[in-house]
Amino acid sequence: MKKILLLNGPNLNLLGKREPGVYGKGTLQDIETSIKDMVEANGWAFEAFQSNQEGELIDKIHKFIGQDVGIIFNPGAYTHTSIALRDAIAGVDLPVIEVHISNVHKREEFRHTSLLAPVCYGQIVGLGSFGYKLAAQTFIEQF
Ligand code: DQA
Repeated sequence: MKKILLLNGPNLNLLGKREPGVYGKGTLQDIETSIKDMVEANGWAFEAFQSNQEGELIDKIHKFIGQDVGIIFNPGAYTHTSIALRDAIAGVDLPVIEVHISNVHKREEFRHTSLLAPVCYGQIVGLGSFGYKLAAQTFIEQF
């Protein structure tokens, strides 16, 4: 069965409390529940995972090698720093859609570069938590 992994990186466990003017008032639990409902209603399996540890995110990505899985990934600040996560995505040959809640291009310059985007299927930026839904819809319609 086709599956969607919703992966969130550092500090995204604080959604709802963290800089609500930038990231909104919804919690990560709200996002995970709405994507789960949407994905399962379309007959796909679903798993959600959040970690503040780079290595745990890498291990989770490796776990799905060879499986029929699409990954929706908000890597948080690792977007801008992690060659190791980039290599993990390139190494597993699974489609990954990178999602950012905020418009990183309107923010500090260090957020303008993604080390991961060149090895992702696509990127959704600045649409709030709706970006996760668009990513799920993309997998459901295109895979
Ligand atoms: C973020 C943007 C990153 O620059 C930041 O470090 C985050 C959240 C976003 O969803 O807008 O933690 O990925």
